[in-house]
This record gives sequence, C-alpha cells and structure tokens, in this order.
Amino acid sequence: MQGLLQGINVFLIGMMGTGKTTVGKLLAQELAYRFFDTDILIERVIQQPVDRIFISMGEANFRKIESQVLAEVTACTKSVIATGGGVILKPQNWVHLRHGLIIWLDASVELLTTRLADDKTRPLLQNTDLTSKLSSLLEQRRSLYNQGDLRITINKNDTPEMLLSKILENIPGKIRSNLEVSNN
Ligand code: S3P
Repeated sequence: MQGLLQGINVFLIGMMGTGKTTVGKLLAQELAYRFFDTDILIERVIQQPVDRIFISMGEANFRKIESQVLAEVTACTKSVIATGGGVILKPQNWVHLRHGLIIWLDASVELLTTRLADDKTRPLLQNTDLTSKLSSLLEQRRSLYNQGDLRITINKNDTPEMLLSKILENIPGKIRSNLEVSNN
C-alpha cells in the first residue's frame, strides 16, 4: 500500500463524531505514515482547547487558523491528516486537500446523535437540539464532503478496525497508475 500511495498524504474529512482521529491513527500506523490532527495542532498553537478558542476568538478566527494549520501540515508528505469537520467549508482549503487522497467518513445523523449525546467539547453542539443541529450541518455540508475521493459509510456496529479494512480495500481503486487520485 505504501508503494501505491508513494508518499501522498491522506486526509480524513467528515462530521464531528465520525472517528477521524481514531481511524486516522490506525491508518497512519498501517501505512507507516505520520499522523496529524488539525484540531490538536490548533490547540497547540493557540494554547487553548477548541471550545475556548470559539469563545475567545470567534468561529471566523478559528477557521482562519484552521486554514493556516492545514496549509502548514500539507507541506509534509507521508502523513494521515484528520481534519476538523468544518475544514471543507473554505474553498481555499480544497487547494491543499486536493494534493492528497481525501476520505470522507460518513455516518448518519442518528448514529452521530448517539455518539455525541454527552459531548461537551464541540462548541457548535452546545445548548442546542443535537439532532436538528447535526441534521442542518450535514445538510449544508454533504455536497462538500461528497467531493472527497472515497466515501466510507459507517454503520452502527463498525469498529475502527473494520473501517480501517474498508479504507485499505478501497484505496487501490482510487489511485491511478500515474499516482493521481482518480475521480471515478
Ligand atoms: C467542527 C468540528 C470540530 C472542530 C470544531 C468545529 C465543525 O472537529 O474543528 O469544533 O465545524 O464541524 P471534529 O470534527 O474533529 O470534532
């Protein structure tokens, strides 16, 4: 698989709660790649957790920092990069994402609601009706996530290891022999 990818980065995109970090770490291990998580990098730079950054600097500034961090991290090769759920919102971010293989982890609102019911760390999900907020976010974002190269549907009982296998099975079909990512 490393031979097939020849060092190109792999980006994980998708809604909060889809397991981008967990699956990304497993994938990085499997590929002998580095692992980065853009939220963790942002927290390191700003020295505050993401929810505090939303309060102290506002979402628009968070998004600016997110774009900067994404640009910096894509200077590396041989990396799996778990992105924040909103990274797909800015067209400029796609310039960076398009340099690698983009994998969309797709889960239903029902499953995300179960997974995120007790979450206190995602600022967009606090003090709101969880299901309707997730539905509206997914509705706004689905067509953007769908621009990824590979869509992996997450079922209720899928373990991170099962998702890893699905990803590994599907990567070869998405890489052309000239190393470009196939859009088919
Ligand atoms: C966000 C997702 C979060 C984080 C921030 C905003 C979003 O990352 O970047 O709370 O807009 O969907 P995860 O997808 O890793 O939870």
